[in-house]
Amino acid sequence: MKKIIIFIGSPGSGKGTQAKRMVEEFGYVHISTGALLRRLSERQDLAKKEIKALEFMKKGHLVPDWLVYKIVFPEADKLILKKSKGIIFDGAIRNVKQARAFQKHFEKLGLGDEVLTLDIKISNRESFDRLTKRRICGKCDEIIPWTSLTAKLKICPKCGGKLKLRKDDNLVVIKKRIKAQGSTAQKPILDFYRKRKMLKIIDGMKSIDEVTLLVENEIING
Ligand code: AP5
Repeated sequence: MKKIIIFIGSPGSGKGTQAKRMVEEFGYVHISTGALLRRLSERQDLAKKEIKALEFMKKGHLVPDWLVYKIVFPEADKLILKKSKGIIFDGAIRNVKQARAFQKHFEKLGLGDEVLTLDIKISNRESFDRLTKRRICGKCDEIIPWTSLTAKLKICPKCGGKLKLRKDDNLVVIKKRIKAQGSTAQKPILDFYRKRKMLKIIDGMKSIDEVTLLVENEIING
């Protein structure tokens, strides 16, 4: 199994859901760029430049690359040094410049050949449907799927925390995210990894459990 797994996919494609499952299944550690950025935005000691950069996220745009590198690279280095089994990057790569910068960073760490990229593919319609219904736990970040069993839940089934909507899961921002970060925007990134034979495609339109099987299979054989 590769040490570096990168999940790519439209907003709502299931990157976070599957990353959490792979952590439990294989013992990877999980780096979600979106979660790191959301945590950063809650801090009171930010520089003006950082506050301005985080405004992009609130509006549904990408934050500048420098901020991504600043928060992700030190975290990744720390986890790699801890001799973890490997890292799952969820949403870390949103343009070709980032793909190049991350690959260069992995090569510096001697992990250039240890990269497997999984693109979880869903339609824009499915992205929209899932994001308008998604709730997360305010305490443990559990992602709650929308089913007849979960629709009425108000409390997290894992930790008892209160369920809430993510700030960027509102209609206007969801539409912007799908346009700016959906399948069309991802094509050049996929080409980057395809050329390097590091890319596998996952059908994200299947049920959560079926997608998990597909992801597990690629990781085991990757
Ligand atoms: P981020 O937090 O990464 O958001 P995202 O990319 O929009 O993806 P989501 O977290 O919304 O969806 P997901 O694919 O994880 O799906 P999930 O598992 O939750 O990033 C947020 C923002 O940060 C970005 O907009 C950007 O501004 C900024 N940012 C982050 N990284 C950046 C970078 N590298 N560069 C620049 N800016 C960056 O599932 C969604 C819902 O669907 C859930 O309810 C789930 O239960 C359900 N679900 C999942 N799978 C299935 C299934 N198979 N069937 C049915 N329901 C399913």
